[in-house]
Amino acid sequence: MATIKHFLQYKDLTRSEHEYLFARTAWLKKKFKAYEVHHPLFDRHLAMIFEKNSTRTRLSFEAGMQQLGGSSIYLNTRDTQLGRGEPVEDAAQVISRMVDVVMIRTFEQEIIERFAANSRVPVINGLTNEYHPCQVLADIYTFIEQRGPIAGKTVAWIGDSNNMCNTWLQAAELLDFNVHVSTPPGYEVEPERAGVYSNAHFEQFNDPMDAARDAHLVTTDVWTSMGFESENEERKRDFADWCVDAEMMKVAAKDALFMHCLPAHRGEEVEAEVIDGPQSVVWEEAENRLHVQKALLEFLLLGEQKM
Ligand code: CP
Ligand code: NVA
Repeated sequence: MATIKHFLQYKDLTRSEHEYLFARTAWLKKKFKAYEVHHPLFDRHLAMIFEKNSTRTRLSFEAGMQQLGGSSIYLNTRDTQLGRGEPVEDAAQVISRMVDVVMIRTFEQEIIERFAANSRVPVINGLTNEYHPCQVLADIYTFIEQRGPIAGKTVAWIGDSNNMCNTWLQAAELLDFNVHVSTPPGYEVEPERAGVYSNAHFEQFNDPMDAARDAHLVTTDVWTSMGFESENEERKRDFADWCVDAEMMKVAAKDALFMHCLPAHRGEEVEAEVIDGPQSVVWEEAENRLHVQKALLEFLLLGEQKM
């Protein structure tokens, strides 16, 4: 059997595959905006397994699959046998005999890896505790769309060294840009968990203002990610000074963008005047989830296509 390509973390695809995906995304987006029908995945089906909440991921995969001529099936832990202890390996065997591609949003990365190891079809990470590769795919596509190539640029990550931060670090290594990270003490990047090979593409700063200085993109995320709710009160205290505000945007490069994967908490990790201000591209970022994931689904099922 040919090797199946999965997208469990950002570095699962090569630099040139990512470059193909960005080019294909632009092609697909243009076609869709022109109302041109493109149904390469007619009669193909996507299973989406959610063990955590979602608005954007569910909507973008469901709409995207339909736009490509296929369909999607929504499953969650509550209604399936997964919530009653059916082994992930058994679920993977069964689900992957009935659909052509699977997207999973779950807790530990290990769960999705066990699923993929027993799957006959490509598996896509729709967010785990460790990584959120589809979001960073959309974010980088958005950066390219707004500002051109990201290689050589500086991204400031302000806040928690979470799934988004880890994925940015992997992307920096692969696509050759730099990430300036500032986390509160005790929440620093763990390179092994982030899955990076070296610290050549990121630098840690104690002061978030130093991380933001001259950055081409300033980005942040919630202080408490899904699955860590019991730490909420402690995190509110620890992260109080890690809020992206106008002063921070002022020290960044003049034409710096602001991104947030959403959902956001105004007044916590970002001030309203920044997320709702002129440098923010959060709605473009959200929309691009749809377009990049269409390119990803098509690529995982059919390989690179002529444009
Ligand atoms: N950014 C993101 O993944 O959003 P959802 O949690 O709404 O899917
Ligand atoms: N870091 C956040 C991202 C949500 C899209 C979380 O995991 O909850």
